[in-house]
Amino acid sequence: MPVDNERAQESEAEAHTIASALENVRLVEYDERFLERSWTWFNDEEILALTMTPPLTSKADQLAWFAGLAKRTDYFVWGIETGDKPIGVTGLKHVKGTAAEAFTVIGDKEYWGRGLSRMIMRVLIGHARNLGIKWISARTLMSNVRSMRSLVSYGFTEWKTEGDVKWMKYGVDDEP
Ligand SMILES: CC(C)(COP(=O)(O)OP(=O)(O)OC[C@H]1O[C@@H](n2cnc3c(N)ncnc32)[C@H](O)[C@@H]1OP(=O)(O)O)[C@@H](O)C(=O)NCCC(=O)NCCS
Repeated sequence: MPVDNERAQESEAEAHTIASALENVRLVEYDERFLERSWTWFNDEEILALTMTPPLTSKADQLAWFAGLAKRTDYFVWGIETGDKPIGVTGLKHVKGTAAEAFTVIGDKEYWGRGLSRMIMRVLIGHARNLGIKWISARTLMSNVRSMRSLVSYGFTEWKTEGDVKWMKYGVDDEP
């Protein structure tokens, strides 16, 4: 087979694999698989800069955090997976009364910019609604284009600005 045809077939097969992986993305219970992958994701310099978070300190702290999850009423986290492959995490933190702050980290960079944010946000907001949450905030660097655009296109509006950081807000009951 000519090399060009072979390459075209390979990239078609690759595109098909990615398309089917994207179709199968789901939010699931956060289990040890996500904990293990999080060690890499939350020690990655680019991800830490985008999310404005410090690196994880130790695996022992991470395990203690995981062990405490079930009892928490101020913090909820879900895993994002495709097939059985963990690709990220999303959740609600600082849950207080009817307000919470949303966060999403697609840790596997291969899945950035492929349109997953809308589905993730839709499911996350469904979870928030079930928890009785009415106001969701999100904190993002203004330079984080994907994050800013995904929030705006989902219907988040500007709340306040702190230096390079934009706080956005969303009324769960305002959802069309
Ligand atoms: C931020 C994040 C959750 C967005 O999810 P995503 O699935 O990658 O984003 P999408 O592909 O749905 O794109 C979101 C928007 O950005 C746009 N976009 C995507 N890639 C882009 C790029 N390279 N340049 C400019 N715009 C881009 C999309 O067109 C879309 O805008 P639209 O809704 O107006 O069309 C994800 O990229 C991520 O986890 N990044 C690392 C961690 C992070 O930054 N978390 C958020 C801050 S706390």
